[in-house]
Amino acid sequence: MSTEQKIMQMQEKRVSLQLGGGQDRIEKQHKSGKLTARERIEKLVDPGSFVEIDGFVTHRCTDFAMDKESAPADGVVTGYATIDNRPVYLYSQDFTVKGGSLGEMHAKKITKVMDMAMKMGCPIICINDSGGARIQEGIDSLSGYGEIFYRNTLASGVIPQISVILGPCAGGAVYSPALTDFIFMVDNISKMFITGPQVVQAATGEKVTDEELGGPQTHCRVSGVAHFKYSSEDECFSGIRTLLSYLPQNNLEDTLIYDTNDDLNRLEPILNSIIPDNPNKSYDVKEIIRLIADNGEFLEIQSLFAQNIVIGFARLNGKSVGIVANQPKVKAGALDIDASDKAARFIRFCDCFNIPIVTLTDVPAFLPGVDQEHNGIIRHGAKLLYAYSEATVPKINIVLRKAYGGAYIAMSSKHLGTDLVYAWPTAEIAVMGPEGAANIIFRKEIEQTEDPVSKRQEKIQEYRDRFSNPYVAASRGYIDDIIEPEATRSRLISALEMLQSKRENRPPKKHGNIPV
Ligand code: HXC
Repeated sequence: MSTEQKIMQMQEKRVSLQLGGGQDRIEKQHKSGKLTARERIEKLVDPGSFVEIDGFVTHRCTDFAMDKESAPADGVVTGYATIDNRPVYLYSQDFTVKGGSLGEMHAKKITKVMDMAMKMGCPIICINDSGGARIQEGIDSLSGYGEIFYRNTLASGVIPQISVILGPCAGGAVYSPALTDFIFMVDNISKMFITGPQVVQAATGEKVTDEELGGPQTHCRVSGVAHFKYSSEDECFSGIRTLLSYLPQNNLEDTLIYDTNDDLNRLEPILNSIIPDNPNKSYDVKEIIRLIADNGEFLEIQSLFAQNIVIGFARLNGKSVGIVANQPKVKAGALDIDASDKAARFIRFCDCFNIPIVTLTDVPAFLPGVDQEHNGIIRHGAKLLYAYSEATVPKINIVLRKAYGGAYIAMSSKHLGTDLVYAWPTAEIAVMGPEGAANIIFRKEIEQTEDPVSKRQEKIQEYRDRFSNPYVAASRGYIDDIIEPEATRSRLISALEMLQSKRENRPPKKHGNIPV
């Protein structure tokens, strides 16, 4: 064979690889509303930037007549590319080849790009569309999953890991996405569960559809497993690109600085009147976030789950910050189990990747109730305390209104190592709300008067005058300053600039033991 023929042979092989499991299966994939593995990569990355590796890898299984069957690229497309000119590694499971099932070589391809991503310090994007362990390959499939989970754990906190569920993701396979930082899902396409509806019915008698059991609505709203939900694959890819723009490449780098045409000293007079005069009335904390952030841009994470706390990324003076804010509109902004979990994991992500944390506090309490206690609000709430205390990135807290009791401490208080705590003049920092406090400490006095109703009001007011303000906390130095709400943006930007050189050490240890 001449050199020219050899080159042609290679090119023909490469072209046939592009067809994956063949035209029929590609059409079936399209008919089910899904793109193919390669189309997904092309749509996600900068045009023409994808470089495939291991395209010629195939399985070496001989059981169940597998030696007679081909599996182009062994059912997963792997390689590297750029997104907004920054390198990323990725893999995309090809459902047209053996249902994207994972065998020995398929797993080896994935672990190779994971190793490369870690070595080069680049984010990895994992596109899942798979029938799970390749049944014909038995234990080799399971070992492959184990190798992936192990690397997910090694890479955690070193490079951002993003999972995209674009098809089935079932059985133990769900644990790779679960070990990564962010999970994206798409309506009518994504499914994640440990066991499917049939096994659930056999085991428990419960009848459930696969959508109800593990669709995007379930995981983004109820279980909190997933972070982002989109109605199409295109929107999902655009969401991934936006997320990456807020992240550094790895734990040793800073995030990009974007040019902002937004005035650093922009005053927002609306903020001076956003807190209602009536302390029992709510408002939307997301309005405050948008008024403060560069160009009003805020990428909310887990927007449907535990809505009593809001988390996400924004930019201040062009630099990424992680925002954690109580949402008075939902459960009065009280901290419950899900809110604590949601915020704690996000704080830890920010801390891993050098992203300063800005907290906006308006919290009446940890949510009381038998259900909360029995399900472990103590254990889950402790995660929030732990995450804030452990974080060494710049931490700034603005107390907007209520900061009561244990929840005051948990929400980035000075006592947990927060660098700067500011309060608006509307802040109320106390052990509990004035009504509850008056009922306890003045109970006898109230009961013994002829007019207990007026006495109670009088005592509530007395307590409010004494403690429901920021001045007592400020007099102890627990609040660094009381600021005009309209100047919040410029105060935050100036604080972040001052904290840029922050270095903080912790006692040497192997690792802490966060209450999981
Ligand atoms: C080998 C598989 C496969 C698998 C699908 N295929 N799953 N091959 N191992 N796990 C093949 C099918 O034989 C078929 O091949 C092609 O992929 C497409 O599958 P279809 O069934 O035709 O597609 P569809 O109707 O869309 O159904 C998709 C599906 C179904 C729901 C995913 O295929 C399915 O239930 N698969 C089995 C799922 C499963 O039980 N996996 C093991 C889970 S245990 P042809 O040649 O006909 O096109 C597990 C443990 C992991 O994963 C533990 C990790 C720790």
